[in-house]
Amino acid sequence: MVKPIAIMKYLVNMFSTPDGGTVYDPFMGSGTTGIACKILDRDFIGSEIDKDYFEIDKARIAYDWEAWEFNKNNKEEYVRTVEHDFFDFGEE
Ligand SMILES: C[S@@+](CC[C@H](N)C(=O)[O-])C[C@H]1O[C@@H](n2cnc3c(N)ncnc32)[C@H](O)[C@@H]1O
Repeated sequence: MVKPIAIMKYLVNMFSTPDGGTVYDPFMGSGTTGIACKILDRDFIGSEIDKDYFEIDKARIAYDWEAWEFNKNNKEEYVRTVEHDFFDFGEE
């Protein structure tokens, strides 16, 4: 299951260091934690043992970084756009 970005943003804000900090997710799965970190200005390090999931992680996080660059003056618009696009990915 792909977790909603809003939930991971909430958890990153609650449990991680302030802007500029680093978050480590040792079990990336589909990479939602990494995307939340991009939005919230945390550096992100992730591990994923499954090669297929790792390919998904790279595609999702890179895709969102480009979207974030494009919409960097409007974070909320970015989040809505990305979440919509994510559900169109057709993942579980
Ligand atoms: C439930 S998912 C993680 C979800 C993710 N943290 C998120 O926020 O969406 C668990 C993932 O951990 C990966 N995994 C299991 N054992 C691992 C290991 N030893 N090293 C790295 N990844 C591992 C699995 O392949 C699976 O994709």
